Amino acid sequence: MYSDKVMEHFMNPRNVGMIENADAVGQVGNPKCGDIMKMYLKIEGDTIVDVKFKTFGCGSAIATSSMATEMIKGKTIKEALALSNRAVADALDGLPPVKMHCSVLAEQAVKSAIYDYAQKHNLHFDELEGFD
Ligand code: FES
Ligand code: FES
Repeated sequence: MYSDKVMEHFMNPRNVGMIENADAVGQVGNPKCGDIMKMYLKIEGDTIVDVKFKTFGCGSAIATSSMATEMIKGKTIKEALALSNRAVADALDGLPPVKMHCSVLAEQAVKSAIYDYAQKHNLHFDELEGFD
């Protein structure tokens, strides 16, 4: 049912924790399953130099948060905004259909953190239109 990569990121998630004095913090929750994901970013210039997460949720939520943090670390804000839940799931060699919403949570957590950053710095990103 789960790919080796999902299992591996679930058993050994990357970038778990929090960042003191983070430049951006995002939190999202899934009202259906109750899972919560919190993401912390350290940003220098327009580059995400560090990222950490805490997820209270299922194995797929943990695996997708772990993969999402790896995929945006060292990237620009614009590149991180382009990260889709599909790309995260693909990088994990897929998720069972009933678990795709967990990857949506990961994408939304990244966007939520960048939204926080945009609010603090008066920045506008089309990708965050209607997001809060
Ligand atoms: Fe059971 Fe997310 S629904 S942990
Ligand atoms: Fe809800 Fe995984 S079951 S995020």
